[in-house]
Amino acid sequence: MSALLQLTSVETDIAGSRILRGVTLAVNAGEVVALMGRNGVGKTTTLRTITGLLPVRAGTVTFDGQDLAKLAPDVRARAGIAYVPQGRDIFPHLTVEENLHVGLVVHRRGRASDKEGLERVYSLFPVLKEMLARKGGVLSGGQQQQLAIGRALLTKPKLLILDEPTEGIQPSIIDQIGDTLKKLKAPQAPADVFQRAAHDVQEIKQAVQLIKQEHSLAILLVEQYVDFCREVADRYYAMDRGAVVVSGAIASLTDEIVKKHLQV
Ligand SMILES: Nc1ncnc2c1ncn2[C@@H]1O[C@H](COP(=O)(O)OP(=O)(O)OP(=O)(O)O)[C@@H](O)[C@H]1O
Ligand SMILES: [Mg+2]
Repeated sequence: MSALLQLTSVETDIAGSRILRGVTLAVNAGEVVALMGRNGVGKTTTLRTITGLLPVRAGTVTFDGQDLAKLAPDVRARAGIAYVPQGRDIFPHLTVEENLHVGLVVHRRGRASDKEGLERVYSLFPVLKEMLARKGGVLSGGQQQQLAIGRALLTKPKLLILDEPTEGIQPSIIDQIGDTLKKLKAPQAPADVFQRAAHDVQEIKQAVQLIKQEHSLAILLVEQYVDFCREVADRYYAMDRGAVVVSGAIASLTDEIVKKHLQV
């Protein structure tokens, strides 16, 4: 069986510099694959190459048996690739409901199907249903991330690509807040911030796990939060300076590999 997504020896340049130096990776149907690596190694560049935002200089990208090289980003989206970019990619001045409707527009499949899609998103992310009338911009970082993922799911993708979904939630800062709190003997307000952030990470983790159980789509996840990858991914690829340096089943991601290729 051939992979849903296959990159073979992909090279990508940005502004005349070689950024990807031969990336080879595959994502099979129904699989959750983590693409890991330190800052600046080319994770986002890999995703932008897959989605067509950057041209492939050499090598091939195939999706669902089709060579993507000549296809524009919107054609790739309609072919079943949904991309949630790094950062909070929602419309801050539109309501949660309006943001979700943007996702429905990509694939017009009739009201019944839209309703079913929305119900699925609400069951994955119950907080969104409670906040339909709120402006996207007032949600917490984690809630905005849930909204972006929900909207992407409404395009009915075969492959969902997430670039650092926990980033806006910043576990490192959460940990720092936690440590500071312990030292300060926990004043009230930051403790709430801490709890809410931890809760948001949990919600996103659960959603990825639920999507995985449905076996209906594959997920390619860029993530630096190693514990998160260990909990949700089936396999991983670790990048360094524009290439994959090690990969395997997520169970084979040892602390030694983490130290060598992933830890800052
Ligand atoms: N628009 C750009 N112009 C010039 N160089 C760029 C541009 N975008 C990215 N780069 C460079 O390409 C390299 C890879 O960047 P990329 O964004 O793919 O890294 P990343 O692995 O996603 O990092 P991070 O974890 O910080 O998001 C970096 O060295 C970066 O400086
Ligand atoms: Mg990045």
